[in-house]
Amino acid sequence: MKLLVTGGTGYIGSHTAVLLMQAGHEVVLWDNLSNSSARVVDRMAMILRERPLLVIGDVRDRAALDALFAHQGFDAVIHFAGLKAVGESVERPLLYYEHNVQGTLTLLQAMAAAGVRLFVFSSSATVYGDPASVPIREDFPRAATNPYGRSKIIVEDILADLITADPTWRIARLRYFNPVGAHESGLIGEDPRGTPSNLMPYICQVAVGRRPQLRVFGDDYETPDGTGVRDYIHVVDLAAGHVQALDYLVGKAGLLTVNLGTGRGYSVRDLIASFARAAGRPIPYVIEPRRPGDIATCYADAQAAQRLLGFRALRDLDRMCADAWRWQQQNPHGYDG
Ligand code: NAD
Ligand code: WQD
Repeated sequence: MKLLVTGGTGYIGSHTAVLLMQAGHEVVLWDNLSNSSARVVDRMAMILRERPLLVIGDVRDRAALDALFAHQGFDAVIHFAGLKAVGESVERPLLYYEHNVQGTLTLLQAMAAAGVRLFVFSSSATVYGDPASVPIREDFPRAATNPYGRSKIIVEDILADLITADPTWRIARLRYFNPVGAHESGLIGEDPRGTPSNLMPYICQVAVGRRPQLRVFGDDYETPDGTGVRDYIHVVDLAAGHVQALDYLVGKAGLLTVNLGTGRGYSVRDLIASFARAAGRPIPYVIEPRRPGDIATCYADAQAAQRLLGFRALRDLDRMCADAWRWQQQNPHGYDG
């Protein structure tokens, strides 16, 4: 198929584009480079021995999208483009709704006008808010606690309305848990701008000496060791889930909603210990108060993805840390370092 990958130079988009191309699809990347580097394309070319086309553009730009669709003739769109920092979304809600909701709406309108009706959307486990129990099933109630999460719920609802109005659409709402790790080549990985807000990139920067120590946000949760528990999933497993979701939608019209996680939870201390093994050095840390808005435990019920897509995460926590470390060591200052 010929695919448009929005947000294609970003962390998850770049890994997914590599797997899509390796599965035989033709890929065009569309990104405004607001949170990524164009150099990722050189790295993808080194992995693939083939260079994906990058078109610099914004999903809020209808005229540019119309021109792209008229020119390219896509079969489907995989939509990663958007803003994802929870704290920033609280400070700048209008910006988040503009990129994540209006941007998606504009993209869907351009698709409808061009007659492209196969869409894969990056949703998030954040739509479950603070779940009543774990593991989290897809039919659990959704309740966002911040504008970022609400933007994902709104888009999920828009997509459901779209299918109701026109059942010929084929749409996947993929709810990612905590993506971490990097491609095994060490050529592409997560390259956050500024101070990382997520755990794994922060640990990476401590291990490589860019930051003195990790701050562990709370050790008084009701979890086995007191620190927060999450479902970390290797980004290459997550990327493979997109290839499988696309295959599923080719065979079946309608709406697919699945969690992409491993079905296992690990604590902050588990991650620190696994990373220290991978890097062969201790990760210095201090215990600090809980981070506002954090929950104790979050992990997926991964059975629907297995049943519907044949999806199973193959890479364990040690592999996630080893691959994250390889990327960090080979690129201590990211793509532009
Ligand atoms: P990322 O920031 O690395 O990638 C997003 C890409 O979109 C960036 O390259 C950025 O430049 C681009 N972009 C942003 N706004 C744009 C716009 N208006 N037009 C065109 N391009 C734009 O983030 P990621 O971690 O790869 O996340 C990809 C998607 O997955 C996002 O929608 C995010 O909300 C979702 N998601 C991420 C996580 C996570 O923990 N990383 C978890 C769940 C869901
Ligand atoms: C993981 C654990 C922290 C940083 C966020 C978004 C979510 C999704 C994924 C997009 C928690 C602890 C963290 C640090 C720490 N993104 N921690 N010190 O909060 O589960 O999810 O990213 O959809 O929407 O909310 O991920 O990596 O920030 O935190 O102790 O410096 O690590 O308290 O227990 P989170 P995270």
